[in-house]
Amino acid sequence: MAEHPTEAAPPPPTHEKREHWSGQTAFILAAIGSAVGLGNIWRFPGQAYEHGGGAFMIPYLVALLTAGIPILFLEHAIGHRFRGSPPLAMKRVHRHAEGVGWLHVAICFVIGLYYTAILAWALSYFFFSFSLAYKDDPAGFFTSDYLQLGEAGTFSTSFVPKVIIPLVAMWAVTIVILALGLHKGVERLNIVGIPVLVATFLVIVVRALFLDGAADGLDALFTPDFAALKDPQVWIAAYGQIFFSLSLAYGIMITYASYRRRRSNLTAPGLVVAFGNSSFELLAGIGVFATLGFLAHREGVGVGELDGIAGPFLSFVTFPATIAEMPGGAFFGALFFASLVLAGLTSLVSVLQVVSAALQDKLGLKPRTAAVLVGGTSAVLSIVGFGTTTGLYLLDTVDNWSNQLGIVAGAITMIAAAVWLGRRGHELERHLAAVSTLRPGRAWLWLVSAVALLLIYMFVDKAVTLAIDGYGGYPTWYLVVFGWGTVVFLALVAFLMPFLKWRRDISRFHPWPSREQLNLPADVGERHTEDYDPRGRS
Ligand code: PHE
Repeated sequence: MAEHPTEAAPPPPTHEKREHWSGQTAFILAAIGSAVGLGNIWRFPGQAYEHGGGAFMIPYLVALLTAGIPILFLEHAIGHRFRGSPPLAMKRVHRHAEGVGWLHVAICFVIGLYYTAILAWALSYFFFSFSLAYKDDPAGFFTSDYLQLGEAGTFSTSFVPKVIIPLVAMWAVTIVILALGLHKGVERLNIVGIPVLVATFLVIVVRALFLDGAADGLDALFTPDFAALKDPQVWIAAYGQIFFSLSLAYGIMITYASYRRRRSNLTAPGLVVAFGNSSFELLAGIGVFATLGFLAHREGVGVGELDGIAGPFLSFVTFPATIAEMPGGAFFGALFFASLVLAGLTSLVSVLQVVSAALQDKLGLKPRTAAVLVGGTSAVLSIVGFGTTTGLYLLDTVDNWSNQLGIVAGAITMIAAAVWLGRRGHELERHLAAVSTLRPGRAWLWLVSAVALLLIYMFVDKAVTLAIDGYGGYPTWYLVVFGWGTVVFLALVAFLMPFLKWRRDISRFHPWPSREQLNLPADVGERHTEDYDPRGRS
C-alpha cells in the first residue's frame, strides 16, 4: 500500500509469542504442584527412615541448601533468560547443547508413561476405599486381585481391565488439562488443586496423630542415628531425594520459568517453592509414620518390623492394611487416595508440559495439537506397557534406570553446557540479580559446579553397581532390554532430535531482560546470543 509511505517503517523486533502465567502466584503454585508428588508422600518417609531417621534431616538440609536451591535457581534463570522449552533454551545457551534439552524431554516422556499407571492404581483405590474392598488381605488384594501380577522378569501381553479403565481415565483428564493450555489448564488445576491438597493432607495428618501408637511411629522416624552420617550412601540418598522431590534436572523448571513475564522475581519464589516442598515432605513423613505406628501397635510389633515401609507397597498394601483397622477408615482411605491422585496429577501435568512445549517450539505446533499428540502417543504406550499383568515389574525397572542414571546425566550435562562449555555462569548470575530481590552471590556458581562434580561421582557409582549387581533379582536379558534399553532410548533422542529442522523461526530473539538493565559488560554473551543464527551461519 503506497498511500502512507512515511508510515512504512520496518517492524520493531518482535518477541516470539509465548503463553504466560497470569502472575507470580500462579507460577509458584504450578511449581509446587510439580514438586509435591509421590516423592513426598511415599519416597521421603522411607528414605528418611532407612537412612538414619532424624539424623537424615542433616544431609537432607545440606542437600537442599547446597544443591536443591542452587540448581533450582539455575533452571529458573535458563528458562527465563532463554525463554524456551529445554531444547530451545539449551540451544540458545550454546548452539551444540540442544541435545541436553532433548534428554530432559525424553526423561519426562518416559516418566509420564509410568507415573500415570501409579495414579491409575490410586484412582482405583480411591473407589475401593468406600467399601474397604482390600480389608481381608491387603497384600493379596493388591498383587493378585487387582494387578493380577504375572511372573517377574517376563513381558506379558495379557491386559488387566481393572487397571486399564482408570488408566484411560487418567490419560483423558491429563490430555484435556494440557489441551486447555497453560492458562485454563495447567494454571487452574494448580490454583485449585494445591490448596485443596494441603487442606486434605492436614486433615489426614491431624487424624493420624490421634491414633494409638502414633508417637511410636514418630519416634521411629525421628530418633536420630548419627552414625549414619558417616556413610556416603546416606548423603547420596539425601541428594537423590532432593533432586527427585524438587523435580530438578527434568527440564520442568526451565519450561515453567519460560512462561514468566519479563520482569519476574526469580529467586524469592524459588525459595518459596523449595521450602514449601520440604514442608509438605515433612508433613507427609509425620502422617505416614504416625499411621505406621498405629499399625505396629495393633499388630504388637515394633515399627521397624513392619514390611513395606517404602515405595508402592507403602501406599497400596501397608496403608490399606492400616485403614482397614482404623475407625472411620473408609473416609480416611478415600481422602488419602484422593490426595495421592491430586498430588500426582499436578506432577504428571508438569512432565508432559515439557514434552508438549518442546514439540510446540520445534515443530511450531499449537498447544492443543501438541497436547493431543503427546498425550495420545503416551496413553497408548502406557497402556501397552503398564496395563498388563507385568506392569509393576516394568515400572520398577524403567523407574530405576531413568531416575538413577537418566536425571543424573540430565543435570550433569545441563550444568556442563551452561557453565563450563557455554560459559554462561556469570551471565545467568547477573540475570538472577537483575530481576530478583534476593541476589544469588558468587557462592552460587561455585556450588553449581561442585554439585556437578558430585553428580558425576554418583553417576559412575550407580552405573557400575547396576552393571555388576543387576537390580531387583530380574534376569539379565530383562534388565538389558528394559533398564539399559531405557538409557539407550534417552541417548538416541538426545543425539538425533537436534538434526530435525526447526519449523519455526527462532532467530529473532533477545535474551531477557535487556543488556542495559543487566549492565552487562560488552563481551558477555555476545558470541552466543545476540549474534546467534539458528541456520548455522554464525
Ligand atoms: N517431584 C515429584 C515428586 O516429588 C516427582 C516428579 C519428578 C514428578 C519429576 C515429575 C517429574 O513426586
